[in-house]
Amino acid sequence: MILLTGATGYIGSHIWIELLRKSAPVIGLDNFSNSSRERLNVIAGISGISPTFIEGDIRDIYLLEQIFSRHQITEVIHLAALKDVKESEFNQANYYDVNVYGFEQIILAMRKYGCHKIIFSSSAAIYGDAVISPINEESIASPSNYYGKTKLQCEQMLAEEFCKFPAIHSVSLRYFNVAGWHSSGLLFNLASSISHSLFTEIQKVLMGNLPSLPIFGNDWKTPDGTCIRDYLHISDLVAGHINAIKLVSGCAEINLGSGRGYSVREVISEYERVTGLQIATVIAGRRHGDVETSFADTTRAEKLIDWRPLKTLSDMCADSYRASLLGLTNPVPLVEK
Ligand code: UFG
Repeated sequence: MILLTGATGYIGSHIWIELLRKSAPVIGLDNFSNSSRERLNVIAGISGISPTFIEGDIRDIYLLEQIFSRHQITEVIHLAALKDVKESEFNQANYYDVNVYGFEQIILAMRKYGCHKIIFSSSAAIYGDAVISPINEESIASPSNYYGKTKLQCEQMLAEEFCKFPAIHSVSLRYFNVAGWHSSGLLFNLASSISHSLFTEIQKVLMGNLPSLPIFGNDWKTPDGTCIRDYLHISDLVAGHINAIKLVSGCAEINLGSGRGYSVREVISEYERVTGLQIATVIAGRRHGDVETSFADTTRAEKLIDWRPLKTLSDMCADSYRASLLGLTNPVPLVEK
């Protein structure tokens, strides 16, 4: 039985649907801090299966003990965490509490009940701005924000857990910039998301919820002056988890990215090309904590978990746009180019 924490969040709900589709036994755990109960109905609707779910918090060790004692948990996919980079800077205590202390409770429960496999949702944020792209997993980890620090602390704990007896085997998946939605569009939910990612903000502009997209700096040392990132479709990210859980052995850190960098302007142009719509932009100052260029070396993912991404930036733009139309009951009329 797989325990999926953060099961109703953006990434969790996509992974959950795929696990159900594959008939994997799975229990979802979430406290709805950045999602809603409604997600459960959507997951049931898409998968055709009523998901097994427990509402609760990963910091609640008594609840974890109940879950582990009642179910034979053989693997954990641990996604539950706070993830807003900016918020992490001024709310460090909370980020520590959920991301690090909460993680420790999961490990304690795993040890107590003899579960020795975990897939951990880590982040490219652990690298910081000192490394040169393409970034491989041997690059120095030096997070430039508190969110990244919490993820690195968890990875370090996993390295220690592997050295104990019996060893806990782990794969830390370092996500680059995840975008796109399930093809049904039904998981799309902008309203309950605190995300301010590039794709989310573009969708807000197209839906009339934001007058224009701020471009955070056009004076970076890149070909068009805007920052370069590695965008990965959510379905490829999901596939990375499925492969990792099949092959988890040892203690590994693996990048999940497309291996290609696109500038902010390139993303906007592609979104406009795919949708035929114009995205209003405004040049804003650089955002604190941004790095100039970040994209992954994905060699290790190919070797260790036999994974390579299949979707393109066009797919991410098309799926995001389709989801925002399908997922909304009353879409705001869009302006044709
Ligand atoms: N950007 C804009 N305008 C916006 C939003 C973003 O210009 O309104 C730019 C950013 O400056 C950056 C790029 O778009 O250059 C991507 O920004 P995102 O906020 O979408 O993503 P980040 O690269 O900042 O961070 C994301 C996740 C982190 C994760 C990191 C890993 O938010 O959790 O990727 O690289 F750690």
